[in-house]
Amino acid sequence: MEELEIIKLPKHIAIIMDGNGRWAKKRGLPRVMGHKAGMASLKETVRACSDLGVEFLTVYAFSTENWRRPMDEVSFLMNLLVEYMKKEISELHENKVKIKVLGEMEVLPEQTRTEILRALELTKDNTGLQFNIALNYGGRLEILKACKEIAQKAKAGLIDTDKIDETLFAAHLYTGTDLDPDLIIRTSGEKRLSNFLLWQSAYSELVFMDVPWPEFNRQSLLDAIHEYQSRDRRYGALK
Ligand code: FPP
Repeated sequence: MEELEIIKLPKHIAIIMDGNGRWAKKRGLPRVMGHKAGMASLKETVRACSDLGVEFLTVYAFSTENWRRPMDEVSFLMNLLVEYMKKEISELHENKVKIKVLGEMEVLPEQTRTEILRALELTKDNTGLQFNIALNYGGRLEILKACKEIAQKAKAGLIDTDKIDETLFAAHLYTGTDLDPDLIIRTSGEKRLSNFLLWQSAYSELVFMDVPWPEFNRQSLLDAIHEYQSRDRRYGALK
């Protein structure tokens, strides 16, 4: 498996797929063509993670703030998701990929929701790569949602407040019992988390890359993993 250290392979990789709009603009194309090209990068990345034996891949596909974009762009992204599910679902299923959505699905357009629910149902028992799609996702909203659920359970006498610990809290997030991301990659030169996996990123290694998402490929993923493998993870302790 190339030059990677297999024992130090990240179990969970999360990606902020940034730079689609700028990539398109640079080529004199409409912004949405950047998202279209980004879909091909996503396809290659899912395949590479699956081949490498990564356990979880989480991608930031649409944030709770992305609704503020022009309606045309929002619709294009929602349709792109439908297209992705329709085109890719058989191969994903064959490769035992399990799809999960992090975020609020109720407000998504009908067709997008239907297609996603179909993919979730089809792949729910798969045992290969777990592919989390953060969709209508916001990190702060996720934390608030967990707080509300826990408060309601406490009020109903189902939870003893003294027993509220990190494990119980994490179980109320969209990620549930998923492992926290070991590595978070953000493409296109920006160096921030933008409300992505705020709780789960406490000890993640962050790798910022200049490559715009539509140019991200298998080699870019390997480069990011290499960078991750050169880091010294101490989790607040000493060596
Ligand atoms: C950020 O680039 C990217 C997005 C908001 C959308 C990412 C979506 C995809 C790659 C489409 C495929 C996803 C799935 C799950 C099918 P930007 O538009 O903010 O780029 P900019 O910063 O250059 O404007």
